[in-house]
Amino acid sequence: MPPGGIAERVVAWQRAHGRHGLPWQGTRDPYRVWLSEIMLQQTQVSTVLAYYPRFLDRFPDVRALAAAPLDDVLALWSGLGYYSRARNLHRCAQAVVAVHGGAFPASSALLATLPGIGRSTAAAIAAFCFGERAAILDGNVKRVLSRALGFGGDLALAAEERALWREAEALLPATGVEAYTQGLMDLGAGVCSVRRPQCLLCPLQPVCVAQREGLPERYPVKTRK
Ligand code: ADE
Ligand code: SF4
Repeated sequence: MPPGGIAERVVAWQRAHGRHGLPWQGTRDPYRVWLSEIMLQQTQVSTVLAYYPRFLDRFPDVRALAAAPLDDVLALWSGLGYYSRARNLHRCAQAVVAVHGGAFPASSALLATLPGIGRSTAAAIAAFCFGERAAILDGNVKRVLSRALGFGGDLALAAEERALWREAEALLPATGVEAYTQGLMDLGAGVCSVRRPQCLLCPLQPVCVAQREGLPERYPVKTRK
């Protein structure tokens, strides 16, 4: 087995095989990264690629967005769906201006206090913009990590979800958290799919518990409540 634990493998794989050159990957501007993360929450990359530049053209910075009428924001959002995201986006921009003087706070903990920015999104922004070692755990990453670790706890239970967050934090690499974070997202969006994980193409295959067990689709465990 080639050397390396989970984090090292994800970082090396992302650098060689992950997604590069997307418009929001060439910047550490929190406004641009935040906007992309909110758009990408429930919308696929190919759709966001059409909306993202138009949005930045009309609202080039957080002050322009905060000062715009909500109706203008909703009009530009039209087609992306989940309009609560657009309302929160506008509220968040206004909070950044009113509470933080127009600069996004530079830590995941403070980012998570803003409207529409949950713990995982806050961590992604902080990792990409500030290199903060903060763990992400969105739906796709829950699937990748629960499979890789063989984490069989029921994620419908708050205590089990907290336990997986602790695992995610323990896995963070000492350096390269930007590539690690992007790599987990890329694996979750592609190789480690819900129905047909492509384990033979996966950098975690040699260390993945679910793959060794032979039925990766059994993770993540989440009962209906
Ligand atoms: N989904 C959420 N964040 C993303 C990102 N930064 N790149 C690609 N897909 C994502
Ligand atoms: Fe997912 Fe398979 Fe990779 Fe494990 S080896 S993380 S199940 S794609």
